Amino acid sequence: MSTLFLHLLKSATDIKSKTRVTPKVAIQLGTGLTDALNTLLDIHESYEYADIFATKQPTALTHRGRLHLGTIGSTQVCVFQGRLHLYEGHTPYSVCQNIIFAKLLGCDSFITTNAAGALNPTFAPGDVALISDHLNLTGVNPLIDLPEAHTKHFKTAHLFTDMLHAYNPDLSVQLSKSATQLGITLNSAVYAGVLGPSLETSAERRLIAQLGADVVGMSTVNEVIMGQTLQMKMAGLSVVTNMATGGREQQPDSIEQILEYAAKGGAVICRLIEKALS
Ligand code: HPA
Repeated sequence: MSTLFLHLLKSATDIKSKTRVTPKVAIQLGTGLTDALNTLLDIHESYEYADIFATKQPTALTHRGRLHLGTIGSTQVCVFQGRLHLYEGHTPYSVCQNIIFAKLLGCDSFITTNAAGALNPTFAPGDVALISDHLNLTGVNPLIDLPEAHTKHFKTAHLFTDMLHAYNPDLSVQLSKSATQLGITLNSAVYAGVLGPSLETSAERRLIAQLGADVVGMSTVNEVIMGQTLQMKMAGLSVVTNMATGGREQQPDSIEQILEYAAKGGAVICRLIEKALS
């Protein structure tokens, strides 16, 4: 794991020494959303994850495994097209590589996106939700046994990180205001992060809803824990891709449907991010 951190540090230092882009904002594109920003991102340079990270390329559908540096409007950004998941066999620390890399590149804000199933029956496929809080149901935490090189470099306390405002209130207000200005309905949601890769049973979905979650997905929570520890401002947006209420009305889920709605919601998220950065 120390090797992964040293690799991230070396790659970030190399990129910073040659790029003209100095991003302060990072955007993580999730399942089905990976091509969403193509139209508004003015790409200056791109890197394959395999070349800059010591980990394997993501294998999840639509997760391209490419980092772009560029601008959206006049804001300099870095955009992660795809992420690693625990269910691909990666460690909790490895699934945080993008956020650690963003911090090393000099970003102080991180907007993460994902596809999620709706436990809340008032949501509908294609809806977009702003994450207000999360339940980490993955059973792991990326702060356990952090590499020594990581803790030495960042010098931030990493145990007992306070999670009260893990989803940054200012960034969330900015996204909500942008949604209002654009006439986009933005639900507020508690996101439950599960391990996957199988979808939840109906009994599990009803249980997770009772625990207080509105949406469920297989990413995000560990990234946000890491981001909070690194003192980054985090925001999370989910696209509802399927109903996951686990009631009598529950329909089988298909990956085709999930990707179709992720693309639809992705276009909305795109407009929202563009507005919020303008
Ligand atoms: N469960 C978990 N992850 C998901 C779902 C779901 O229903 N939909 C999209 N990602």
